[in-house]
Amino acid sequence: MVWPITAQRDAREALSIGGVSVAELASRYGTPLYIYDEATIRSQCRLYTQSLTQAHPRPRVVYAGKAWLSLALLKIIADEGLSLDVVSAGELYVALEAGFPAERISFHGNNKAPDELKMALDSNIGQIVVDNFYEIDCLEELTANRTEPFPVLLRLNPGIDVHTHDYRKTGIVDSKFGLGIQTGDAACAVERLVNAPGLVLRGYHAHVGSQIFEVEPFVDTVNAIFDFAGEMKERHGVIPDEMSPGGGFGIQYEESDPAAPVEEYIQAIGAAAQMAARRIGIPDPEFTIEPGRSIVGTAGIAVYTVGATKVIPGVRTYVSVDGGMADNIRPALYGAVYSAELVTGRKDEPVELVTIAGKFCESGDVLIDKTTLPQLTAGDLVAVPVVGAYSLAMASNYNMALRPAVVFVSEGETRLVQRRETFQDLVQRDVAQMTGG
Ligand code: LLP
Repeated sequence: MVWPITAQRDAREALSIGGVSVAELASRYGTPLYIYDEATIRSQCRLYTQSLTQAHPRPRVVYAGKAWLSLALLKIIADEGLSLDVVSAGELYVALEAGFPAERISFHGNNKAPDELKMALDSNIGQIVVDNFYEIDCLEELTANRTEPFPVLLRLNPGIDVHTHDYRKTGIVDSKFGLGIQTGDAACAVERLVNAPGLVLRGYHAHVGSQIFEVEPFVDTVNAIFDFAGEMKERHGVIPDEMSPGGGFGIQYEESDPAAPVEEYIQAIGAAAQMAARRIGIPDPEFTIEPGRSIVGTAGIAVYTVGATKVIPGVRTYVSVDGGMADNIRPALYGAVYSAELVTGRKDEPVELVTIAGKFCESGDVLIDKTTLPQLTAGDLVAVPVVGAYSLAMASNYNMALRPAVVFVSEGETRLVQRRETFQDLVQRDVAQMTGG
């Protein structure tokens, strides 16, 4: 399913989400507009928490905040009982501003700066996921005088390849992330951590990639990190209290994409984790998964207004909309494929093959390479589903674009949760250097 669970079309083919007319939202807040359906976010949170609770006796579901963060979203995530993974001081700041419980925050990243680590320690977050030796050096120094050792997980690189875009592979040996099991780095890191008085090694983490549809890489990851934990138990007596095979569960972007059987994935990895714990002779540690995309991806839709059309006879028809790569870089960066529908459908009209182009000064700024829609004219509203994850999170001000407004809809109610940027926002950070005068 590519639309939010509350998406509906009325008798006149008009689209509504969360009981609210999309056309009305567009006229009230302007376009491009990002609309999130609260019911879809909550139902995804519950799908993961309930599936993991059935699959493992010590479940923990962590939302990977990089997929998209805002104060309003964090309230829902906290409310649904999920934990949070942040990857920068900026994400940590937003989480703390939202009042997200610090003890439920984990800090990831392959190059955390000393200042970021200090902020994490000072905020008493739940744990830091250590990625490299430099970070161990920094943490040793920063925690030298602690009375209570600070909890850390170790991010392992298990050397596992997955079927996804190269940019989204993170568990292969040639990756900037994590300490290699094969290379011996991971074992050296454990030795360092068990000898660091200010730190306590709670367990192991790995994340092998994103937008993954097979279950095997997750199961292989579970086995790899538990086997490593078994070796470290023999060598250093470390009994892990938390293990995590990360996130990366795939979602459908087009109706023709395979549907990811979340319950099956979770069942399989939960069972693998329990078997692995028996195999290496430890009690079940906390078992943590970190979905990002699959929590918010399908909940979000983007609404654009059609402007110029360019027909190149025998070649293609470009229909340009008022957004594009500044609010959604994914087609340009990964060749991501999206679909589009008219906000108010015209079911009986003939369709034509068109390219939906963005408005930014780059030929690669094409949102949808090929789609069939009724003939579009300026002013038509087009909705693009599955933009809830890694679109706004990766948005930019390219061409001085104003980042879009975001609304949440739920049971017929609308909340503006992020206002559209203004022209003033564009010069806010400039230290004034007016011409003339
Ligand atoms: N945990 C860790 C350590 C991660 O690095 C990531 C994603 C996740 C969890 C969540 O993965 P998810 O469930 O969202 O797939 N910008 C790319 C995706 C980058 C993913 C980065 N790490 C895209 O738009 O496809």
